[in-house]
Amino acid sequence: MRVILLGAPGAGKGTQAKFICQHFNIPQISTGDMLRAEVQSGTKMGEQVKSIMNEGKLVPDDLIIMMISERIQQPDCKNGFLLDGFPRTITQAKAFIEAGIKIDHVIEIAVEDQEIIARLSGRLIHPASGRIYHKTFNPPKNENKDDLTGEELIQRKDDQEATVRSRLAVYHEQTEPLIAFYQQEDQQRSYPSPKFSRLVGVGNVDDIKKSLLDLLEK
Ligand code: AP5
Repeated sequence: MRVILLGAPGAGKGTQAKFICQHFNIPQISTGDMLRAEVQSGTKMGEQVKSIMNEGKLVPDDLIIMMISERIQQPDCKNGFLLDGFPRTITQAKAFIEAGIKIDHVIEIAVEDQEIIARLSGRLIHPASGRIYHKTFNPPKNENKDDLTGEELIQRKDDQEATVRSRLAVYHEQTEPLIAFYQQEDQQRSYPSPKFSRLVGVGNVDDIKKSLLDLLEK
């Protein structure tokens, strides 16, 4: 099973990716998490992308394509993978097609901008595991502490409202065209193209999870 989750920042890709990956026993490949790990470790790549990420812009296509191409060669991807945050541009999507990498399903999680701003301003992260909470919608059992480890939760630098607004602008300009791109791929079926589905990502997290699993098991 090879899946792409598409959607605006804060649409719930990371939240739902965890359920899908557990259910199908495939790795979650989050380009955002991979890039944040590079920044955290202070690598050359991390230095290169730090300010771009803090401003909410996209890092260069060639760098991302190289990073993902290497990642999917790893043995844990043998039976599939879930891409969370890739592709984000038409160039990235075409690079996969040109490399002959087959994807089974692309799912867009659709959420309006106003809801996104409310979600991201309240998001809390457990950095070591990537577990995601929300101050109001999905609060941890103890304030600001991870449920499993009791460790401190953090807010991402790019979750400040002004940065969220520019991430949304980048999404509409550069990533949203992928929806029409994959819809067309699905209709043409010229290449072993992925099936495209759209799911409204507003409402109870468990209900959205169930709808996603239903879509993938069809
Ligand atoms: P990345 O880390 O991928 O960020 P993003 O796409 O902006 O996505 P998020 O992680 O912010 O949101 P999400 O959809 O996973 O939502 P979540 O589940 O956390 O990328 C960061 C940066 O890296 C980019 O800006 C760019 O610079 C760079 N980058 C990454 N990939 C790249 C690429 N391919 N090319 C170029 N640059 C790239 O949910 C959000 C909140 O909502 C949480 O608090 C959650 O608890 C809550 N929530 C979830 N579901 C619900 C619900 N149903 N109801 C209410 N609340 C909910």
